[in-house]
Amino acid sequence: MATSQSLIPDSRKALVLGATGLIGSHLLELLLQDKVYSTVRIFVRKPIQLQHAKLEQITVDYDKLQQHINAFKVDDIFCCLGTTIKKAGSQEAFYKVDATYPYEAARLGRQQGAQQYLLVTSMGANKDSSIFYNRVKGEVEDLITGLQFPSFHIFHPSLLLGERNESRTGEAIAQKVMPAFSALMIGGLKKYKPIEGYKVAKAMLVIAKQALPGKHIHASDTLQELGK
Ligand SMILES: NC(=O)c1ccc[n+]([C@@H]2O[C@H](COP(=O)([O-])OP(=O)(O)OC[C@H]3O[C@@H](n4cnc5c(N)ncnc54)[C@H](OP(=O)(O)O)[C@@H]3O)[C@@H](O)[C@H]2O)c1
Repeated sequence: MATSQSLIPDSRKALVLGATGLIGSHLLELLLQDKVYSTVRIFVRKPIQLQHAKLEQITVDYDKLQQHINAFKVDDIFCCLGTTIKKAGSQEAFYKVDATYPYEAARLGRQQGAQQYLLVTSMGANKDSSIFYNRVKGEVEDLITGLQFPSFHIFHPSLLLGERNESRTGEAIAQKVMPAFSALMIGGLKKYKPIEGYKVAKAMLVIAKQALPGKHIHASDTLQELGK
């Protein structure tokens, strides 16, 4: 039964985009373990070797999300999609993964009655930024804000820590160097502290279960606390 303040029922359906990534794979594991969620649906480009009674895998072409319109009939949509310009091959291709797909999923979800959208962008996201990456992150936030979800949560992690299947040279160097400075990142600097992908995922789950109405932006220092 739903509580008086909650927007959505206790037996909730989640849709996760980016469930094969660093944050997304932790989130998937957490959602599958959580009693509040009865269905955990994921969109994948290639099927993954995981079976669970609550798991529904749907193989999709992200350029044709409309084909899966009924799959958007969920309570909460979690978006952990992302790429790098190097991996995507161009700024246009990067924009598709980090803005077009998250927005299109939000639009279809809103159309189908989803109540909450939980989106990972990044610290520094700002549509007026001169840095392309930050600008794209800010633009997608603004686009989805325009859809007026009853509950919209934006997550702004700092540099992510955790094991990846691929190597990212710049990120790997930063991951080695930054933790040495972490102890110095206190007070106003706390939000710059690198954060484990697991903690971001945990924070997303905690926030989703609170089902707070309105738009909220969660800075990395808050995610550190919530993700403990
Ligand atoms: N790296 C950092 O330090 C950092 C810091 C702050 C914020 N962020 C942001 O946090 C978010 C999550 O990051 P992460 O490191 O957890 O992501 P990740 O490990 O790189 O995973 C990205 C996810 O996006 C999917 N994806 C990539 N390219 C795609 C495409 N062309 N079409 C469809 N799906 C595609 C991947 O699916 P496949 O498995 O099919 O490729 C995967 O599920 C991203 O938005 C990222 O920009 C990252």
